Amino acid sequence: MPEILDQLASARLVPVVVLDDAAHARPLAGALVEGGLPVAEVTFRTAAAVESIREMAADGRVLVGAGTVLTPAQVDEAVDAGAQYVVSPGFSREVVDRCAERGVLALPGAVTATEVQAAFAAGITTVKFFPAETSGGAAAIKALSAPFGDVRFVPTGGIGATNLAEYLSLPSVAAVGGSWMVPRGAIAEGRFDDVAAMVADAVALTR
Ligand code: 3PG
Repeated sequence: MPEILDQLASARLVPVVVLDDAAHARPLAGALVEGGLPVAEVTFRTAAAVESIREMAADGRVLVGAGTVLTPAQVDEAVDAGAQYVVSPGFSREVVDRCAERGVLALPGAVTATEVQAAFAAGITTVKFFPAETSGGAAAIKALSAPFGDVRFVPTGGIGATNLAEYLSLPSVAAVGGSWMVPRGAIAEGRFDDVAAMVADAVALTR
């Protein structure tokens, strides 16, 4: 599990993906690879999520995780389909415990000191800081890092090309999540060359 975190941290970005059709999963994997960012958080917001994770995991080129995971049953579905990490918008002890039982990295959301402390007590040292922009942004992460020196953050929500640098400059930020480089519409329309170009632009901003 620490190695998955290391891979996310070295990628610097976690594309948050909404797939309406599992047939788009493999072409999207190709676009992510072409753009230089072979990582995807496939959200449980559509009926196509589980099959999309299965397709991407079978493709084998992308570090695939599940996002918007709200229940232990969804942890099982995600892991059975091949998800290598599990992201939640908030902190749920049940979800975190099921991830531990299944041997996958849990990345629960936490934005207040109380939430971060609860996650830390459950053995979590990297949290998703979501929704980042409306929860105080980079300044809030900086403030939380003072008492929680061992915690790392994956800010997500409202981040794009214009504010990415504020987050990536913080030592406590492991990686930044976002959907701006994988727009749902472009995927649904099958514009995978455009997606690859947007992914490449996003990667260039991390350098
Ligand atoms: C998520 O689930 O992580 C967010 O919906 C992604 O936020 P963004 O669309 O603002 O990047």
